[in-house]
Order: sequence, then structure tokens, then C-alpha cells
Amino acid sequence: SPSISTSDRNNSMGANLANDNDLRVLAEQVNAAVKPWRAAPLVPGAVIASAAQDVSNPADRRQIVGQWQPADSAVVDKALQNAVNAQPAWDRTPAASRAAILEHAATLLEQRMPEYIALCVKEAGKTLPDGVAEVREAVDFLRYYAAQARAQFGAAEKLPGPTGESNELQLHGRGVFVCISPWNFPLAIFLGQVSAALAAGNSVIAKPAEQTNLIGHAAVKLLHEAGIPEGVLQFLPGDGATVGAALTRDPRVAGVAFTGSTDTARAINRALAARDAAIGVLIAETGGQNAFIADSSALPEQLVKDAIGSAFTSAGQRCSAARVLFVQDDIADKVMTMLAGAMDELVIGDPGLLSTDVGPVIDADALKMLEDHAARMASEARLIKQAPIGEAAAHGTFFAPRAWELKSLDQLQKEIFGPALHVVRWKADQLDQVIDAINATGYGLTLGVHSRIDETVDRIAARVKVGNVYVNRNQIGAVVGVQPFGGQGLSGTGPKAGGPHYLPRFATEKTVTVNT
Ligand code: SER
Repeated sequence: SPSISTSDRNNSMGANLANDNDLRVLAEQVNAAVKPWRAAPLVPGAVIASAAQDVSNPADRRQIVGQWQPADSAVVDKALQNAVNAQPAWDRTPAASRAAILEHAATLLEQRMPEYIALCVKEAGKTLPDGVAEVREAVDFLRYYAAQARAQFGAAEKLPGPTGESNELQLHGRGVFVCISPWNFPLAIFLGQVSAALAAGNSVIAKPAEQTNLIGHAAVKLLHEAGIPEGVLQFLPGDGATVGAALTRDPRVAGVAFTGSTDTARAINRALAARDAAIGVLIAETGGQNAFIADSSALPEQLVKDAIGSAFTSAGQRCSAARVLFVQDDIADKVMTMLAGAMDELVIGDPGLLSTDVGPVIDADALKMLEDHAARMASEARLIKQAPIGEAAAHGTFFAPRAWELKSLDQLQKEIFGPALHVVRWKADQLDQVIDAINATGYGLTLGVHSRIDETVDRIAARVKVGNVYVNRNQIGAVVGVQPFGGQGLSGTGPKAGGPHYLPRFATEKTVTVNT
């Protein structure tokens, strides 16, 4: 794999674009890739009779980019039957063969980057660089979990025993896994969950977020083409209340991988627990109230660049994004002035243009939540800056990135999922209070630290209860296999995606003892 240079470290280890010219060519290919995309359930033997619904472009709601059809309860039932029937043979398929299919899918995805990036831009409102990073991360997940499957599921582990007895520990798929993925990483997290569950020997029912059905459909078609049998991986779009709820309360489901809100994760956990069936496993990655702590030794230019990148990349629609910047009093005014200046330079608009920094938010509900928050902040906080938003934004769901100064973190009750940053000042003797306040949120996903004092960095890193700590850089863009990603507390169950402990959680262990 290519090495990761400092400037490229938030990209994956997958396909590389050598220079700006490659990016320009790619942009032309992406913008030319307009198709009447369609997404219907992929369930062998099912009759799909539901009415098609339009998918509109978040950057311009007048533009219809495709259509999708939801699954009804008969289709859900058929998918579960198929998944139960298909799983034993898939589990008996050697791990190396399962891995080879995932690797083939990675190669196909690399070859077809422009079309998949185009889908990410037009259905999910991703900017071009975000689209590139998304496809690269998906490629990385496929290859990483393939490699982990070979290493961990390839041969049973031989265990010691007395003479005349052999013991081994085998890993098997748990059965039927349901993967419920988010719209903010509609390809990377979708394929990450699905490929992990498949690599471990499960059959999979993939339910994408309702906002990104077209991308999920294209991802499942790719895996089928690469060689995953159609009964082993099925695609089941639909709304959470019908399709998601029907799946998670069904006794045929062995486990659920979910990325989304903490409330939905709790509801899934309750549904799994309420079944009169085997105890289902839940692997959940949920929200965050991610902080960024800067002390007076921080370099203001670097801090502002990394804070802007952490808060506003992907229009702040990353669970890793910075929401609260705690900045030491001594440099706070300077940092806020620089932050306001840098925000003035942000280009908000058409995500298909290379000049765009911040694209739309995903839908009207997301926009309303942000506007309600801005209205509350207007009376409770000081506006540091509202970034300018151009004509390009007239027909889409855009929210101008904003930064406010708060008196305390208590003013922020829930995660604000979008381009909204909050700044809180702290005094030299208040570092422990800052750490306590961050831990008291109950969330524990990412933390950014900017300090050139080793003791401060060590003290923060040791005390803060989060999954990913980033020091003197931005706090987004975990790289598969390099920065295993996932939180604790209200932020998720673990194990970390893109880490070595992820696949075994999708498996059940069997010890086989033979009296020889
Ligand atoms: N894996 C993503 C990131 O690190 C999650 O939001 O930014």
C-alpha cells in the first residue's frame, strides 16, 4: 500500500489520486455520470409491488436523481427466510474464499470510482473530496476485513490439552445479521458493516438509511457481481418504523450492526431483548458531543485550520466532528478572530464543484433542527461568525456554517449534527473541570487536543473517556486499520470499526474436543 504522507493522512490507504489534474478529470467524469438510478429490494423470490418514490438531490431539490421502492412486510419475511436458508453453506465456505470475493469487490469499486462518487455527490450531497474519501474508505474496509477473515477465521486455533485429546477453537458466523447503516457514510460504513458480517460467515440483510437507498443498492449489486450469493446478502430498503423494527424484533435475527442515533440504538437493543429467542448481539456506533481542547501553547494558525476542518468538513455531518472548542483564555480572542476570518473564506454551494468547501445538509429535517438550534443560540450565545452562503444554495437544504461562543458546555444538551461549532473559554487552573465536563456528557467518541506541553497532552489523554484522541491535528477521518474507530458510553458498544477486534464480535465461538 502507498504510505500516508502528512498532507494525505485523512485519506485512506486505497486508490490514490496523484494530483489536482486527476481530481479535475475525476470531477468531469463524476458530473457526467447521470443515470436514472433505481433501488428496489434485492430479495430472491419476492414480489416487489410497492410504489416508486423519487430521490432528490440535497443540493438542488428540483433535481430528481433516481427512484426507490420500499420493502413491505411480505418482502421482509421472505428476506428472513432466504437469509436463514443461505447462512449454513456460507459459513462452511472457507474464510479465504469469502475474503477473495470481498477483495474482488474492492477492485471493482476502485475501477468504478467515478460512478460511486457521483452517487455520493448527488444522493448524499457529498463534496468531491468527501466522495473520493468515501470510496477509498469503502475499498479499505473490504480489503481490511478480508485480511482479518483470512487471519482470524482461516484455521481453527489449536489449544493445549492432555495426551490423548485434541482441542481447537473455531469461529463461526452467528447466523442472520441485520446491518442498519447511516446516510452520512452511505457507502463506507454501509460496506464496512456488511463486509464484516459476511467475512465472519453470517448471511446479511442490509437496510440503508432512508436518505441513501440508491448508494446502498449500488453497493449490494457490486458485492453480488463480485460473487456473494444473492440469498447471502439481501438489500432491504424501507423506513425504520416498518422494515427496521420488523427485522429487529424477529427471532430469526442473530445480531444487528447499527450506526446512527443513540436513541435508535437503545430501541434496537430493547427489541432484541424482548424477543422470546436467542439473545441477540448489538454492535452500535452512535453519536458524540466531541470536544477539542486547546491550551495557550497551541499554534493558533494550526488550531484554527484543524478546528475548521473538524467542525465543517462534510458539512459537520460526521459523528467524529468537533462540536465544542475549549480554548484557553490567553489565546481565545485571537483564535476567535482568526476563526471568523477563516469562516469568511468558506465556499458553500454545489458539492459537484471543486471549489466548494461545504455542501448541503442531508434533508429538510436536518436543516430545521439546525435552524431551531441557531434560533436558540441567538438568545443564549454570542455569534462569532456565520459563513456567507451564495446563490448556489437557493434550491438546496443548506445551512451556513456558524460558530458561537458559549459560557459553558451545559448550554449544549444534545448533539448538533451539522456545521455548527461552539467555543468555550477556560482558565489555566480549570483543565480538570474541562475534562470533567466533557466526561459528564456521557458521550465518548472523539477528542482533539492542541498543546505543545507533553504533560498536558498526557493528562488529557489519560483522563478523558473517549474512543479516539487526536493530538495536534484534526479529529476526523479515521483511517481503516490505522485509527480503529468507535466510542464508549452513549457513543457506542464497541468494538471499533476498522480494528482487529471487530470481526470476532460478529462470530460465535465453538470449542471442539476430541478424545484421540
Ligand atoms: N469514521 C469517520 C471519521 O473518522 C466517522 O464519522 O470521521
